[in-house]
Amino acid sequence: MKHLLSLEALTGAEIERIVSQATVLKKNRAASPQVLTGQQWALIFTKSSTRTRVSFEVGIRELGGQVMFLSGNDIQLGRGEPIKDTARVMGRMIHGAVIRTFAQNDVEEFASFSGIPTINALTDDEHPCQILADLLTMTERIGGWEGRRVCFLGDGDCNVARSWIWASAKLGFELVIGAPKEFQPAASFMDRVASSNISVTDDPSEAVQGCDVLYTDVWVSMGKEEEAKERIETLRPWQIDHALLGKAKPGALVMHCLPAYRGKEITESVLEENATLIFDQAENRLHAQKAVICQLVNGAK
Ligand code: CP
Ligand code: NVA
Repeated sequence: MKHLLSLEALTGAEIERIVSQATVLKKNRAASPQVLTGQQWALIFTKSSTRTRVSFEVGIRELGGQVMFLSGNDIQLGRGEPIKDTARVMGRMIHGAVIRTFAQNDVEEFASFSGIPTINALTDDEHPCQILADLLTMTERIGGWEGRRVCFLGDGDCNVARSWIWASAKLGFELVIGAPKEFQPAASFMDRVASSNISVTDDPSEAVQGCDVLYTDVWVSMGKEEEAKERIETLRPWQIDHALLGKAKPGALVMHCLPAYRGKEITESVLEENATLIFDQAENRLHAQKAVICQLVNGAK
């Protein structure tokens, strides 16, 4: 594995290896392998972030490296310098890059022109680091994903939903995308995935039936702010509240990648009742991403 650009590009075995190494790293956080000694990494973000930024900054330091945060708007990239030129400059000075931006192609281009390990920290298409952390969380809580049924509710065509779709296709667990017609994954995308483990429904009660995990994300992803009003109106029936939870399997896990908008995709009470799990998910970003970095710099150790 040279880069982590998407879950689409990983094999099931690579995903399993990352989750399994993350479990080991979490157990022994104080003895993190110093695989980044002498290395300088950069975080280049053109979208906001709390969890991803903090977990990468902490993780890189725990692995012995040094890290700089570059806001996309503060560097020349924000004034129109091409990504390929930015990549060629950085490739001569730093050892690895973590990028959060809009177009998936920008991350791919950066990886190809910089020649250094590059990690997708969220694009419009995918959020691979989030789902790796979520798989670690499922492993801790219910022993993994084998034979499990996960339901993603809300904007079924967003980056987080798409990475779940790839995870299901690669790992073989059942995934239900519960979303109104306007927010279902694009047909061309589903054709590319071509997996029989994934179903799509526009009926919330049907979506949650028999699921081991109910998962949601914000209704208005970064970059979609202009559509906020319409999205909130259309997605209203997809809120995880007690009524919907009552239709799911008793004891189903409620997961959220955060940030959470109470009263929109989840109610205050459902979020708070599941806060331990949801903030475990947030913490697991750190462990999962450290595992990703170890795989990138060290191979499958
Ligand atoms: N879940 C997630 O990626 O959070 P941030 O946007 O705060 O990084
Ligand atoms: N789908 C959300 C995820 C935030 C972590 C967004 O792109 O804003």
